[in-house]
This record gives sequence, structure tokens and C-alpha cells, in this order.
Amino acid sequence: MDFDTIIGPIGTLVTCQSNSPRKGEDLRDLPIIVDGAVGIKDGKITFVGKYDEIAGQKAQKTIDASKKMVLPGFVDCHTHIPFLGDRSNEMIMRFEGKTYMEIAKSGGGILNTMGFVRYSSEQNLLEAAKKSAARLLENGTTTFEGKSGYGLDFDNEIKQLNVLKKLGSETSQKVVSTCLSAHFLPPEYKEKREKYIEMITEKILPFAAKNKLADFVDVFCENGAFTLAETKEILTKAKSLNFKTRVHADEIENYGGAKLAAEIGCVSADHLLMADDEAIELLSEKGVVAVLLPATAFFLRKPFARARKFIEKGCVIAVASDLNPGSSYTYSMFQVLTVAVFGMGLFPEEAIWASTLNAAFALSVQNEVGSIEIGKRADITIWDVSHPIYLFYPFGEKSLSAVVSKGILVYWKE
Ligand code: NIG
Ligand code: FE
Repeated sequence: MDFDTIIGPIGTLVTCQSNSPRKGEDLRDLPIIVDGAVGIKDGKITFVGKYDEIAGQKAQKTIDASKKMVLPGFVDCHTHIPFLGDRSNEMIMRFEGKTYMEIAKSGGGILNTMGFVRYSSEQNLLEAAKKSAARLLENGTTTFEGKSGYGLDFDNEIKQLNVLKKLGSETSQKVVSTCLSAHFLPPEYKEKREKYIEMITEKILPFAAKNKLADFVDVFCENGAFTLAETKEILTKAKSLNFKTRVHADEIENYGGAKLAAEIGCVSADHLLMADDEAIELLSEKGVVAVLLPATAFFLRKPFARARKFIEKGCVIAVASDLNPGSSYTYSMFQVLTVAVFGMGLFPEEAIWASTLNAAFALSVQNEVGSIEIGKRADITIWDVSHPIYLFYPFGEKSLSAVVSKGILVYWKE
């Protein structure tokens, strides 16, 4: 066998191989190969095992990681790329006591970013999105999901989805696209919200389906955004067009979004800060991935989602950044995991599953990414630590040493 690249020897190789998403007590157990190696050919993983078995074989490039730890690249299963603009003023408004919804209803929030996105050309938006993708990559994120939801009319929603599609072919990262036209009611529909819903179900979704512009459809189901009935209508239509579905659920109030996600059979329900025990049980029963976004709670100074309860009830949990300019402005999954561990109460091993393989399940891309496994994309991060615990124990240190994306070494620490 010959390889383009061999990473090896590797002190601690964490493969995250598993046939099913991890949950319950199994989340504490990471598959580790000591003195391991990974072989790469044509952007894919073609060998995983002990270095002894591969030592001496031909490769154009060898990366020595003998004193390091190797993980699968992060799968950030919830971001709001593409976006433009600066909303730092809203952070100060919140510190002064205004709520997220008060800011949103007074024309700030999502509508603020809508202004930037609407007045940007597709090319400019694509350039901004490429910069965002590059920042994610240098922080170890090799797969990410992005959304529309800042265009809020036909042309601008499609513009965002077009950008996501182009982004997928112009970066080495895997990009999953979600249509979130039901993110916020745009001002021109204030007195006729049913017309906006109709535009989503009758124009945007059929167009996106026909042109293969999105994998998922999502709704911000919340008091002040979209009602349970509207969410159901939009997601039912989405399913009929063969989209996968997900919901921004129970972020601000215990509104019923998570229960609806279970009823509809969504792939994931995201946020869930206020989800009650019954909702958590339903998500577990129906196998809906609970996507927890601890950086949002941290950034908005809100209580965290009850991660231990989700795990105790047997839910599949994933952790993502929610990267957006308003409620979670971070490009670093590593920072998100630090918050997940110290704020939300995850163990280091749980945080790793939640941001790799389980997150791949949240996007239905578990056959391609999320673990270091033969046949999957060669998406790999290398860390200057000897064990997962040391990612967190000296907290806040950026111990990321290198990133391999689709088989290419795209980042390394000088
Ligand atoms: O996931 N909750 C709704 N949407 C985003 C925030 C978007 C924004 O504030 O721009 C979120 O937090
Ligand atoms: Fe979000």
C-alpha cells in the first residue's frame, strides 16, 4: 500500500469509531490506540491502527505526532454562516439589562444582520463566508453546517443558500446547508405573517428542493419568532419535499419546540436551555439528537442546557458553536468545549464525542466524517497534549498543533 500522507507515530490516537452515536455511560469511554498511525490517500483515510503495522511503508509526507494526541476534526453542527456585520453594541445593551428578544423586537438582533446581508452582493457574502470558514478551519473545524435566515425574503434567502453551496466546493471543509427562512418575521410582513409562511412553503422550499440548495430545513420556534403551528406547517412541507428537519427549540422559554421536534421526527432539536424533563424523554425516545450550544448560554449570560439530564435520560447529545454575530460569536470549537466542560458539566470524553461523531449524526453525515475510520474523509486534528484530560486541565490554552482537512495539512503551529 502506498500513501499520500502517514501521520505516525501518534502518542494517543483517539479514533471515535463507533457504529452508533454514543449516549449514556458509553460517552465516558473513548476508543484510543497508543502508538498509532493513520494512513491517507486521495483525501481519505486508508489505514488506522498501530504504527508498527505501517512503519517503513511509502508516503509522500510523514507527520510525526509521537508526543501528541490526534482527534477527528470537529464537526460544528450548528452555525449561522454566512453572515456579515458587527453587533457588539448589542452585547453591551444586554449587559445593561436589555433582553435578547427586546433587542430583536426593536430592530436589532436578527434584523440587524438581515440589513447587512440584504445589501451585500452574493460575491461579497461568499468572500465573508470563506473568511469565516478559514477561521473555523484554523480552529480545527473540518465540517460545519451553515444556514440562511438573514435574508428573510425570496432573493436574499436563496442568495445565502447559493453562498453555502459555493462554499462547499471552494473550501476543503464539508459544508451542510440548512434553510432557516423562518428565523424572524421581516418588517415588510409585519401585518401579514401568514403571507410570509406561505412564501416559505410555496416558493422558497420548492425552489431550494428543485435546485438542491439545502439539506435541512429549520425553524426558530419561540415566542416572538414562529409559533408551534407555523413550525409544524413549515416542517411538514419540508418533509414532503424530502428535506431533513431540525428546530431551534426552547431556547428562551419552555415553548414546546423540543416536543414538536420529537413528534415530527426531526433529526435534531437545538438549544434546549429551557426544555423540560418530558421533552428530554421524548427526544431520547425518538432518537432526536439534542444539539447543545453552551457558548450561546455563556455569551447571553443564561443558564446552561441541563446536559447531565439529557445524558441521564439516554439522549444523543451533540455540542456546537451556534456561531453568529448576535448570540454566540466564536469560531473556536475548542472554546465551546471548554465552556461545555466547565459551565455545562460535561466530562472531557463526553465533550469529544459530542463535537465529533455525535455531531456528524446530528447532520446525517456520520458515514463520511466524525471519526478516524477507513473510508472516511481524512479530517484530523493534532494536539500538543498526551491525553484528552489535558485539553481542559490547563484551561484556555490553545494546544492545537495541526489540522488536516480532506487529507491536506492546512494549519500547523509554527
Ligand atoms: O441560534 N436563536 C435564534 N437564532 C440565533 C441567533 C441569531 C442572531 O441573533 O443573529 C441563535 O442563537
Ligand atoms: Fe442558532
